[in-house]
Parts: sequence; C-alpha cells; structure tokens
Amino acid sequence: MTVATNGQRAILKIDKAVRRFGGLVAVNEVSFEALTGQVTGLIGPNGAGKSTMFDLITGVRPVTSGDIYFRDQRVTDAPPHTRSPMGMARTFQIVRLFHGMTVLENVLLGLHPKFPDGILRALFSSRALAAQERKARDRAMELLEFVGLASRAADAIGHLTLGQLRLVDIARALASDPALLMMDEPAAGLNDAETGNLLNMILALKMRGMAMLVVEHDIDFIMTACDRIVVMDRGAKIADGTPDAVRNDEKVIAAYIGRKATHATH
Ligand SMILES: Nc1ncnc2c1ncn2[C@@H]1O[C@H](COP(=O)(O)OP(=O)(O)OP(=O)(O)O)[C@@H](O)[C@H]1O
Ligand SMILES: [Mg+2]
Repeated sequence: MTVATNGQRAILKIDKAVRRFGGLVAVNEVSFEALTGQVTGLIGPNGAGKSTMFDLITGVRPVTSGDIYFRDQRVTDAPPHTRSPMGMARTFQIVRLFHGMTVLENVLLGLHPKFPDGILRALFSSRALAAQERKARDRAMELLEFVGLASRAADAIGHLTLGQLRLVDIARALASDPALLMMDEPAAGLNDAETGNLLNMILALKMRGMAMLVVEHDIDFIMTACDRIVVMDRGAKIADGTPDAVRNDEKVIAAYIGRKATHATH
C-alpha cells in the first residue's frame, strides 16, 4: 500500500484482540484502526493494557485471540522480525539503548536492516562498503538533526538526560523508515521545551504521511497531538473518537476519576 500524504487508509487494523496473562485479561476484545497521515492516541489509566497492545502489534507477544492486519496483510501469526521490515517501528516506555555506545552508533543500529553486514558484507568491495557506511552515517546524522541532537552525536549514551534518551530512541526507530511509528510514553521525563519540540516533530512526520500511534499520560499533549484517541480501561476499549469527543465522554471521565479516587484511598 502506498502512503498518501493526505491518506485516510487504515494502515493498521486491530480486530477483537485478546491477550490473557493467566487469569488476567490484559487486552479484552479491542478493535481499532490507525490511519495513514494521522496521529492516533492510545490512552488509559495505569494497567489499562496499552503497552501490551504495542507488544501484540509488534508481535513480541502473541494474541490469545483476534487478528492484527498491517498494510492489508494479516500479521496475527507473523513473527516480530518479519513485521518491522514491513514498515512498523516502536519506541519503548523504558528506553532500551546501548550504553557502551555513542548516540550516533545507537541510531546506526536502527539502520541495520537497510545496510546489511555479516555474510553480505564480505561481498562488498571495501570501496562500496565505505560508501555504504558513509551513507548510513549521513542518514543517522540527518535523523539526529531532526530530533535536535546532532551536536551530541559523539557523546556516550550515559551522558544524556532521560528526555534526550527518548529522542535518540525516536531517531533509532525512524532509521528504519517506518510507515507506522508507535511511541510508548514519548513525553515522560521531558521538560516543557522538549515536549514542545516533540510535538513539532510529530506534526512534521504527520505532514510526510506517517501514521503514528502514541501512548501517553500527558493529556494536554495527547489532545494537541492526536487526530483520534482510543481509550482503554482494564483491558477494554471504552471510547474511540476525536479529542473533543473523548474529553467529554462520561465513561472516560469516570475511568480517570475512578482510578484517582482508588489511588487516594491507598
Ligand atoms: N508479562 C506479564 N505477565 C503478567 N501480567 C502482565 C504482563 N505484562 C503486563 N501484565 C499486566 O497486564 C495489564 C496491562 O499492562 P500494561 O503494561 O499493558 O498496561 P499499560 O496500560 O501500559 O499501563 P502503564 O500506563 O502503567 O504503562 C496489567 O494488569 C499488567 O500487570
Ligand atoms: Mg505501559
């Protein structure tokens, strides 16, 4: 499927997805779609099943039942390593980067599937290989510029703030040129300026026709960034609509207030 800049096609379709962990139903018959050129928010109180949903989409955990379609193909049983080359990438709630490496090297790792090494590497002449490596570094630098971290390219990962690590993780995910970018709590740990930059980045990617699925607890951020919002609570989808519709939905208000009230009693 081609990605239209103003596209409204569903790039991702979740059909009655269920995921059980023993007796716990973490995801309970959830269906929704993510459209090209749109930012879809996935929100809900702690434990609602949002990160589990990401795991089901990427395939790191299988669904107990239900189906997942990506780019018009049923990927329900496709192993994770076959899904990312189809054009999906994610960032993590707890950032997973390689601490012994530089910022640039971490982004280069994201380019890996596009620039083969190992056995194939031996087939390249050293000249072709050097050209390929240069191309990969240029692309990685371009991505670091996009996220505003080009000046930190040579720094060790350990020297970065949490906000900066989240940006490196986004650059790494973008390196695979995904058609669908899934971000799990990208604004967590970011200061106001960084959150503003993140919002601009998301809007720039949207202008290029990228589909995004964003899990986030920062409601102002979600309301501004998203075209549509899916709300989960205790595994089930309780709302799906425009930011305004969701903001005024009684079930959504009750889910958030209910949780806060529960927390307050502990
Ligand atoms: N590997 C697992 N084994 C057992 N239960 C799990 C596992 N992973 C998640 N769960 C449970 O599934 C439910 C959904 O968890 P999940 O991490 O998807 O929630 P979440 O919406 O991402 O929450 P948060 O906002 O806190 O990140 C929770 O009750 C959680 O304890
Ligand atoms: Mg989570």
